[in-house]
Amino acid sequence: MTFLQIQGLSAFYGRTQALFNCSFDISEGEFVALLGSNGAGKTTMLRAISGLLPFKGSITYDGKHLEKVAAQKRLELGIVHIPQGRGTFTEFTVDENLSLGATIVASRSQIKADKEQWYEAFPRLKERRDQLAGNLSGGEQQMLAVARGLMSRPRLLMCDEPSLGLAPSITQEILKTFKALNRDHGMTLLVVEQNVDITLQYADKAFVLEAGQIVASGSAEEMVNNEDIKKSYLGAVR
Ligand SMILES: Nc1ncnc2c1ncn2[C@@H]1O[C@H](COP(=O)(O)OP(=O)(O)OP(=O)(O)O)[C@@H](O)[C@H]1O
Ligand SMILES: [Mg+2]
Repeated sequence: MTFLQIQGLSAFYGRTQALFNCSFDISEGEFVALLGSNGAGKTTMLRAISGLLPFKGSITYDGKHLEKVAAQKRLELGIVHIPQGRGTFTEFTVDENLSLGATIVASRSQIKADKEQWYEAFPRLKERRDQLAGNLSGGEQQMLAVARGLMSRPRLLMCDEPSLGLAPSITQEILKTFKALNRDHGMTLLVVEQNVDITLQYADKAFVLEAGQIVASGSAEEMVNNEDIKKSYLGAVR
C-alpha cells in the first residue's frame, strides 16, 4: 500500500523554483534513498514533506493530503525530519537532547522507556548520556540527532545526509542502524545520501533528483547496475 505519495510536486524559494513536477511513491516499511548532486533539490524535497516549505502539487501521507496540514501536525502524524548538519543542542547534555526530542509523547514513563530503548540501540550515547552534546564527536552527534528524532516516534523518518563529514566506517554504522530500525520497527525511511554505493547496500530502492526533477528510480539492485548512475554517482562522491 502506498504510504507516501508525491504527485506533481513543485517547490519555490520566493520566485526561484527548486522542484519541478516531481512524482514518486513510497510503501510503508520501505527504506528509500534520495540521491542527487549538490543543489539538486534533495533538502528541498524533505522540507516540503515535513512542512517547512510550501509546495504546489500533492503529498499524500497515510491517506491524508498534507497540503493544509501544518508542520507541527505532520510531526504528530509521525513525519520526522532530521535536518542536514545535525542540529543537536550543543549546550545541553545527551540525555537532555533526547528529552527535547520527545515532542509528542505525553507521559514521563513513556519518555523514559523510549530513551532506554534508544540507548540500547546507541550504546555510545548511553555511555555519554550526561556529556554535553557539543563535546561529542561528529559521528556521535549524528547518532544523537537520529536518536532525538526517534523520540518523536516516527512512522516516516527522513534524514538529510546523516554521513556528512563522517568516515566511511561511521557511515556504515549509521546506515546499519537505519536498516535495523526499518527491519525491527517497520519504520519507513527516506534518507538523503551522497555516499551512494554504501547507501545502496542498505536501501530497498532509490530516487535520483537532478536540477529539481526526478530523473531515475528503481530498486537498489537496478541502481547499482545502471550505467548512467554508475557513471554519475557510484564511487564519484565520498
Ligand atoms: N533558502 C533558500 N533560498 C533560496 N534558494 C534556495 C534555498 N535553499 C536552497 N535553495 C536553492 O534550491 C536548490 C535546491 O537546493 P537544496 O538545498 O534542496 O539542494 P540539495 O540537493 O539538498 O543540495 P546539497 O547536496 O548541497 O545539500 C538550489 O539551487 C539552492 O540554491
Ligand atoms: Mg541538502
